[in-house]
Amino acid sequence: MPSQALAIGQFAKAPHNASRSPCPVVNALANHGYIERSGRKIYMEDLNASLRHVGMSSLLGSVFAIPTYFEFQNPHTEYRKKPVGTFERVWALIKNPYVFFDYFGCWKADQTIEGRKYLNLVDLASHGAIEHDISLTRRDVDQEEGNNDPQKDLIKQMIDSSSDKNNLTVEDLGKFIKARIQQQLKDNPGLVYGPAEHQVNCGQVALMMGCFGDGKTIPISYVKAIFQDERLPIKEGWTKRSWWRSMGLLEFFGAVRAMTTAVGVKF
Ligand code: HEM
Repeated sequence: MPSQALAIGQFAKAPHNASRSPCPVVNALANHGYIERSGRKIYMEDLNASLRHVGMSSLLGSVFAIPTYFEFQNPHTEYRKKPVGTFERVWALIKNPYVFFDYFGCWKADQTIEGRKYLNLVDLASHGAIEHDISLTRRDVDQEEGNNDPQKDLIKQMIDSSSDKNNLTVEDLGKFIKARIQQQLKDNPGLVYGPAEHQVNCGQVALMMGCFGDGKTIPISYVKAIFQDERLPIKEGWTKRSWWRSMGLLEFFGAVRAMTTAVGVKF
């Protein structure tokens, strides 16, 4: 079916040659047409606006969407840059508080159309920005399978880690992340995973638990829709949180803390 025939919100698998990311939820937003279905030439305003379809507050959504459009700082060439003084740093923060999260930047300098920055979804896989080693369902950048494509065996392992076989709890996912850390320590000799990567990892899971679960559990049927089909679990009964009880910044920080506690790994 040509993509023009699809209504916004209607689910369809990614079209041939579409660009997709390591984030199952951003991919789902593209598969529902809330952002370009091709996953190409996505403007910041569109990515930001799409996040209300998963029940995030506009502040929390913009904390994720806006820094993604800072320039990608390749960790391998970062040392060549002139160090930035404290005054310049503070001034930059006053001008634009999102600069605090500039290490999340995935944008490359040639990606503009008429002065507007855009991203292709595959840019979210830029390693060392938001993308990190030890994902739940992707392998690492140094592994043959790469860091972008969903891995069926990992999705199955995650689902199988449910203790009651109907839901995944924060504790189930905590144990699963701990097992993934142990696995990757064996499988990836070049592994880079410290407190910063762990916070981001737990943050992504916390976001999922808050937007698609009740903060403590998420039904397995939702997890399958999100990870296997990259689809919002509407058929399975999920409804997005309304704007007055959308997931906000404070709830998010609390959920990240609960997730890191459940993993229980100290650095
Ligand atoms: C601007 C919005 C977003 C951006 C730029 C983004 C980006 C990313 C990236 C780059 C990853 C890969 C990290 C890695 O495993 O290496 C990721 C993973 C993930 N994201 Fe997002 N994301 C966004 C919104 C969301 C939202 C709204 C949710 C849930 C409600 C979400 C849930 C997840 C989950 C659960 C993972 C882990 C996947 C895995 O480890 O296999 N993300 N995201």
